[in-house]
Amino acid sequence: MINNNFEDILMNRKSVKVFDEQVKIPEEEMQEMIQKATKAPSSVNMQPWRFLVVQSEEGKDKLRPLIRFNTRQNDTSAAMVVVFGDMHNYEFGEEIYNNAVAHGMMPEDVKEEMLAKVIPYYKSLSKAEMNDIVKIDSSLAAMQFMLVARAYGYDTNPIGGFERDQIAQAFDLDEERYEPVMIIAIGKEKNPGHDSYRLSTDQVTRFV
Ligand SMILES: Cc1cc2nc3c(=O)[nH]c(=O)nc-3n(C[C@H](O)[C@H](O)[C@H](O)COP(=O)(O)O)c2cc1C
Repeated sequence: MINNNFEDILMNRKSVKVFDEQVKIPEEEMQEMIQKATKAPSSVNMQPWRFLVVQSEEGKDKLRPLIRFNTRQNDTSAAMVVVFGDMHNYEFGEEIYNNAVAHGMMPEDVKEEMLAKVIPYYKSLSKAEMNDIVKIDSSLAAMQFMLVARAYGYDTNPIGGFERDQIAQAFDLDEERYEPVMIIAIGKEKNPGHDSYRLSTDQVTRFV
């Protein structure tokens, strides 16, 4: 089920907190949505986003004590998609650039030049600098995921209120490597989301 009405997808997206518990999302469909979300741009195309799809009862039980006031979303959603940023994303650099050449998307010499510059540069970054990069890039993919979800007939809620220092470990992930960015609850709405006020363009924009 694809909704191609971009205006509807964009303007009617609202954070949904209570989902229809009967609705599950097939793994293949979830993969398709993630694939589309990862058409998002990223710094030097390093694609540092990683997705942990928590859909089982067991997984949700692990999440429950870590998500503070967001338990309704955990209990009723089809899945809680935890978006992480991979602090070692440059380990995929060769694979990404080699495939770009193999698919005729980039000349070999450009690849060589980019890899020689980008990988040492990324390795030289401080933790704080890399943290900024993975959070910016992964947030773009997260936003795309929420819009793609609407196109597939689902609703979402981005969640930042969770125990960031415990979530990687709870799912046996290396906490030094995987930086939690946000959780996206996804499912079909049971209780509709509320309208929310936006500041005017004048208040948030300056033309010079
Ligand atoms: C990074 C981020 C973190 C958020 N964290 C939470 C959260 O922990 N719990 C929650 O219910 N909503 C959370 N929200 C949802 C916001 O409250 C919501 O997006 C905002 O009020 C605008 O409403 P809308 O999404 O319906 O347009 C978060 C949103 C973002 C972008």
